[in-house]
Amino acid sequence: MLGKLQMRLQLSRAKHRSLTGHSRMARRFASLVPFYEYDEALFFRVDAAPDDIAAARRAGFVRLAGIFAERFKKTADLTGEIADSVSDLKFTSRYRVPFQFSGFVRQHFKPGAFVESSSGVTVTDLDGNRLYDLTGSYGVNVFGYDFYKECIEQGAKRVRGLGPVLGAYHPVTAYNVRRLLQISGLEEISFHMSGTEAVMQAVRLARYHTGRTHLVRFCGAYHGWWGDVQPGVGNPLAARETYTLKDVDEVSLRVLRNRRDIACVLVNPLQALHPNVSAPGDSTLIDSGRKAHFDRDAYTAWLKQLREVCSARGIALIFDEVFVGFRLSIGGAQEYFGVRADLVTYGKTVAGGLPVGVLCGLAKFMRRFREDRPADICFARGTFNSHPYVMGAMYEFLARLETDAVRGLYRGLDEVWNTRAQALNGRLAAAELPVRVANLSSIWTIYYPTPSRYNWMFQYYLRAAGLSLSWVGTGRLIFSLNYTDADFAEVADRILSAAEGMQRDGWWWTEPHLTNKSIRRRVFKEMIQARWTRPPAASPMGSISSPRIK
Ligand SMILES: Cc1ncc(COP(=O)(O)O)c(C=O)c1O
Repeated sequence: MLGKLQMRLQLSRAKHRSLTGHSRMARRFASLVPFYEYDEALFFRVDAAPDDIAAARRAGFVRLAGIFAERFKKTADLTGEIADSVSDLKFTSRYRVPFQFSGFVRQHFKPGAFVESSSGVTVTDLDGNRLYDLTGSYGVNVFGYDFYKECIEQGAKRVRGLGPVLGAYHPVTAYNVRRLLQISGLEEISFHMSGTEAVMQAVRLARYHTGRTHLVRFCGAYHGWWGDVQPGVGNPLAARETYTLKDVDEVSLRVLRNRRDIACVLVNPLQALHPNVSAPGDSTLIDSGRKAHFDRDAYTAWLKQLREVCSARGIALIFDEVFVGFRLSIGGAQEYFGVRADLVTYGKTVAGGLPVGVLCGLAKFMRRFREDRPADICFARGTFNSHPYVMGAMYEFLARLETDAVRGLYRGLDEVWNTRAQALNGRLAAAELPVRVANLSSIWTIYYPTPSRYNWMFQYYLRAAGLSLSWVGTGRLIFSLNYTDADFAEVADRILSAAEGMQRDGWWWTEPHLTNKSIRRRVFKEMIQARWTRPPAASPMGSISSPRIK
């Protein structure tokens, strides 16, 4: 009894104190958050800004909305035709900014969901606007779009004779297997159709071979959209066999050391940029609480500790390199941090621009059957696994990795991106703009050092300056490695001028006593008011007016 209680307490201590660390509570809290939105007057002065500031914001908003309406017209019109029928679009357009502001913003800003072509580090929309691409196509684009066009074209030529035959492999697959095992330093491989599926298979195999039930993931880490790796908000069911533990924290090691039900530990090395925090999206940017900082030594030490405890306890250590694989170094996170995993997932970029998931692992974890118990198997299939066209483009990708030109891109890679980030931060600081960047190599995030309710507006200023961001806005910028110094200088200039515009329009005005904590308290009060008071009381709370439900 006492032992069980102790384990339970240990588990509780290893949960991060944020809601992200408590998935059940987070889901319950999410189900209680009521919808409300700011009316037009409050939209511009929810922080109790004085009249002149509210007027400047309104004028800036109207001007920017005009630019959008004119510049992105064709793109927005076609988007409008499908906007109500495509679930993805309906969802992402709603969650670009905090929901209290979202309705009004959607009415006036229609950036559009289409692009027609890509070249160098830019994409071109239907109106002919050439935008610097900072989306990185969710991380797929490591080497520049022209590189992937070549991989797809040459790969298709290579496999055209076989066409879409499935089940049997095209001969290029043999090269892909050999190269990926070399790169990962592992013994067996399986091909899947997405990163999510590769992770599913890694966890399933770990459970099969250890005979244990639970997976450990770290607070905030994304591993695809499968239920077991997404135990919190977003998944209607509880993930009963998942432990979400504090990242980079000794207390979690204690849990790994002592529990007997843990089959595997999943690590997404991207979290090194913001341990214990979910992927930063602008829809959660209600204040300036976003933080990020990459400490390579500290994260390396943490991975080494994980490696040690997993080896000692027979737990499978899984590196989920779907995002960072091939971006940090050719050998991926294993090479970059100097720590080896038992199973490694890859995806995104590795099929030269076509959809894929790959799992590499030690043979003892990858085998799907038991010699001594023939009926006890671990099943995994997928109609399109090892599709010839995917294998063809993957062949081209892996072959190009061996060329001097591509190898050269990795030389001094961190130094290049760290220098660029530092230089940009220097310029932002010198101009007294409340914007900074943090980076893990070519993966960047923008954060805001001064408390504000309006940081999410920045994504629209950036777009107007000709920078293309993904739907998470300023939370994640992904550069491809073919950004030259000149390309980057252009992007840096545009970030600066966008920030200056936003500053001029008064969005970053702040009253001296405003803190992130007071903003959060204020929003929490609004939620309570919206939930329990209908219609909401119009009485001011402190110096800030109440929300109104439309
Ligand atoms: C670390 C990680 N794992 C898994 C996935 C899921 O991959 P996919 O979207 O191909 O299913 C992602 C996607 O972003 C990811 O970043």
